[in-house]
Formats: sequence, C-alpha cells, structure tokens
Amino acid sequence: MYYYNDNPNIIIFEHPLLKHKITLMRDKRTGTNEFRKMVEEIACLMGFEALKDLPTHNIEVETPIEKCMSPIIEGKKLAVVPILRAGLGMVEGILDLVPSAKVGHIGLYRDPVTHEPHEYYCKLPSAIDQRLIVVTDPMLATGGSGVAAVNFIKQHGGKHIKFLSIIAAPEGIERLAAAHPDIEIYCAQVDRELNENKYICPGLGDAGDRIFGTI
Ligand code: PRP
Ligand code: URA
Repeated sequence: MYYYNDNPNIIIFEHPLLKHKITLMRDKRTGTNEFRKMVEEIACLMGFEALKDLPTHNIEVETPIEKCMSPIIEGKKLAVVPILRAGLGMVEGILDLVPSAKVGHIGLYRDPVTHEPHEYYCKLPSAIDQRLIVVTDPMLATGGSGVAAVNFIKQHGGKHIKFLSIIAAPEGIERLAAAHPDIEIYCAQVDRELNENKYICPGLGDAGDRIFGTI
C-alpha cells in the first residue's frame, strides 16, 4: 500500500492477490460469471483494509474458560452506497464483511458525448449523517461520477465517506480528491491514462457491461 502523491487520504493497494485478480478481469476473454466474481472478491479484500477503523464496542462473552469483555462491530452504523450500475458488483463483497450494513443506491450514467454524469436514481439509508459510508464503483475515470455521488451524499448529510474503486485513472483520483479532500479514496490499481472516449487505458473496458453481460 502507498499514499498517492503522499496524500494519506488516497490509499493505493499493492497486494499480489489484488493484482492477480485485476489481471484476470482485464483479459477480454474473461466471461461475465468470472468477472462478477472477481469484482466481488476484490471489494471484499479492499473492504477488509478500508474498514479497519470501524467502531466497536465491548460485550461480555463466556468462553469455555471464563467470562470476558470482547469487541463487536457496530455494523448498523455502516452504509454501502454503490454507484449504479457497476458499483453494484462490489456490494456483496462488503456485505460479506458486515452483513448488517444498510445499502443505498446512486444511479448515474455518463453522457457518451460530454462524458459528464447524469443522475437517474438516488436513495440513501436513514440517518445517513451518523453512518460510515462506503461508496463503491469499480472505475474512477474522469472522476465526474465519483464527485457527483459524493456531492449527493453530502447534500443529504453524509460526512464520513470512503470511496472504493478497483481501477482508477490519475485524472479521476485527482479530480475526486480536489473536490472532496475530506474523504478517503481507496484504489486497487492506478492505470496510465484516459483515451479520447474517456475510457481507462489499459483498463478493462466498460465495467457495467462486463458485470451484467450487456453490450
Ligand atoms: C462507469 C463506471 C463509473 C463511471 C466512471 O459507469 O461504473 O460510474 O463510468 O467514469 P467517470 O469517472 O468518468 O465518471 P457508466 O456511466 O458507464 O454507467 P454503468 O455503470 O451503468 O455502465
Ligand atoms: N467506465 C468504465 O466502465 N470503464 C472505463 O474505462 C471508464 C469509465
């Protein structure tokens, strides 16, 4: 792991398990089933690190030896908010870690010409201001969708936000961090650049299409 541009709020993973799975995802021969499984597994591995500061409280348990106080997580305080569609693929990976988390949805699509995000659906869990919010989207390209999603969450009172993306372009990381310097951004891979259609290079193509088998 390292901090992008020495910014402690931008955490880039370097784990070989993540790198291996990303290589399989990049391969254009990888089918929908396998691709979807990779997205979920990577989200789980990233979530393990990103949730290391989840609040806990002690409860009393009785072991076969004696009673003791031991911590459990306050899972109801967590909200997972995927950016539709592709972010949906990461939700189960986080819920595997914290099954009691609530789930919101932010529907955005990129205009094919301007590449700017358009909102079509948004619903967040109640008491969003009191929750740790994990936003998921496998691709952080121009950063437009990420910025719009975090804007929406903040407008509804969200404060403690972590953004998880699998592959990011430098432009996207920098735009999101500039617009929202208070959030934590986690990326499993930083790729080279965006092409003229604002796709990440080398990337993995259209994440939503590859997860859901659409063209
Ligand atoms: C993709 C991806 C991100 C967005 C990233 O979604 O899942 O949400 O593009 O691009 P940006 O950083 O330039 O905004 P898309 O708009 O293709 O919608 P989809 O998930 O429904 O396919
Ligand atoms: N959205 C994707 O799904 N892939 C990219 O490379 C860029 C945006």
